[in-house]
Amino acid sequence: MTARIRTIDLDRFAECLPGLADLLIDAVDSGASIGFWAPLAPADAVLYWREVMQGLVDGNLVLLVAEDAGEVVGSVQLLLSGRQNGHHRAEIRKLMVRNSHRGHGLGRALLSAAHVEASYRGRTLLILDTRTGDAGERLYVSMGYSRAGEIPGFTIEPDGARHGVSFFYHVLP
Ligand SMILES: CC(C)(COP(=O)(O)OP(=O)(O)OC[C@H]1O[C@@H](n2cnc3c(N)ncnc32)[C@H](O)[C@@H]1OP(=O)(O)O)[C@@H](O)C(=O)NCCC(=O)NCCS
Repeated sequence: MTARIRTIDLDRFAECLPGLADLLIDAVDSGASIGFWAPLAPADAVLYWREVMQGLVDGNLVLLVAEDAGEVVGSVQLLLSGRQNGHHRAEIRKLMVRNSHRGHGLGRALLSAAHVEASYRGRTLLILDTRTGDAGERLYVSMGYSRAGEIPGFTIEPDGARHGVSFFYHVLP
């Protein structure tokens, strides 16, 4: 697999939108806990990405996309804190790799690319959250993240089942 990772600015956003919507639907279908219940309607997926686009308009979000043969196969976002006391902070959001492309190092590569973007912007304290026990946890720990704690019952499924969410942080050198 030879996926290429690049930052997407406003000019390129529209051309990536259909692929990003498909990626989100694929992740939700695979059982990922990223804010939505399966099945996710295409219109809702597009709506979500339009909210992300607003971050690009406001200049407080960095969007990274991985493409393989012209297809969007992964993505991650960096939300830059706009607080006066938070100019050194950013949140890693919605790290996703297409189900068909998982297990080949792309998640790790996307996170590394997000670290480079964060560093470039002087954001050295990174925070994120993920469902406790999910694949992401191992990835984050192996990339130097520390677990700050867990909130039990943070998310709720259609059948009423609740899941804990773990919070992580990482200080870039
Ligand atoms: C989490 C996710 C991004 C990993 O992407 P990936 O491309 O498969 O990850 P990589 O191949 O780079 O693997 C990196 C590390 O992640 C961990 N990992 C990946 N898949 C895993 C799995 N199924 N179970 C446990 N750990 C796993 C491992 O530590 C792995 O390192 P190793 O291969 O050296 O053991 C992907 O599974 C995904 O998109 N999940 C759905 C969305 C999600 O839950 N995102 C995270 C929370 S927002």
